[in-house]
Amino acid sequence: MATKSQAITLPTIVLGVTGSIGAYKAADLVRRLEERGCDVHCVLTKEAVAFITPLTLQVLSGHRVHADLFSDEEHGVVHTQLADAARLLLIAPATANIIAKLAHGLADDLLTCVALATKAPVLLAPAMNVHMYEHPMTQANIRRLKALGHRFVGPESGALACGYDAMGHLVDVERIVQAALAMLPRSRASSPRAPARR
Ligand SMILES: Cc1cc2nc3c(=O)[nH]c(=O)nc-3n(C[C@H](O)[C@H](O)[C@H](O)COP(=O)(O)O)c2cc1C
Repeated sequence: MATKSQAITLPTIVLGVTGSIGAYKAADLVRRLEERGCDVHCVLTKEAVAFITPLTLQVLSGHRVHADLFSDEEHGVVHTQLADAARLLLIAPATANIIAKLAHGLADDLLTCVALATKAPVLLAPAMNVHMYEHPMTQANIRRLKALGHRFVGPESGALACGYDAMGHLVDVERIVQAALAMLPRSRASSPRAPARR
């Protein structure tokens, strides 16, 4: 595993976590990405905080976890700092809601502001109820994001929290890691500084 002193030259992944029952897997995702030499900065939606404590992701990533568009403003414009620092914006798990918001260019919270402001490639790992996933609006939103160049990993069929065994299950964390690593630029040149470690 890369040491923290190397962090300035490590590729920065901004990991967006949204309000899905699969959010608990973000902890394993952060750990594995860090083990592969990535510098992970987590952005949680308000709903994600109901599913996973920011403290867990803070300890695993070594960075303050961001969940509020406004609370960090005295330290700079966090959403543009994160957007500029990102070499990849990974959103896992990605709810039907975040997919819809990204497909329509909304910017009403920290994660959507980062997504709109970044030039980095975007990878989404959806997780949701099968009927939400199959809904024509969700499918149209996914097509729209793919047309913009956003990439998707999953979902897959599996046991859903709602009781169905059907499409909508978050893919295995290792598959997300592999998809993310494949999207990072080959160069390990240092990226603009992400918000300071705290
Ligand atoms: C127990 C529970 C589990 C949920 N799981 C999901 C899910 O897996 N996928 C999804 O799209 N929405 C799920 N939702 C609904 C989202 O939390 C809701 O749409 C929320 O507004 C998403 O906000 P966000 O996208 O900003 O995080 C769940 C809600 C609850 C109460």
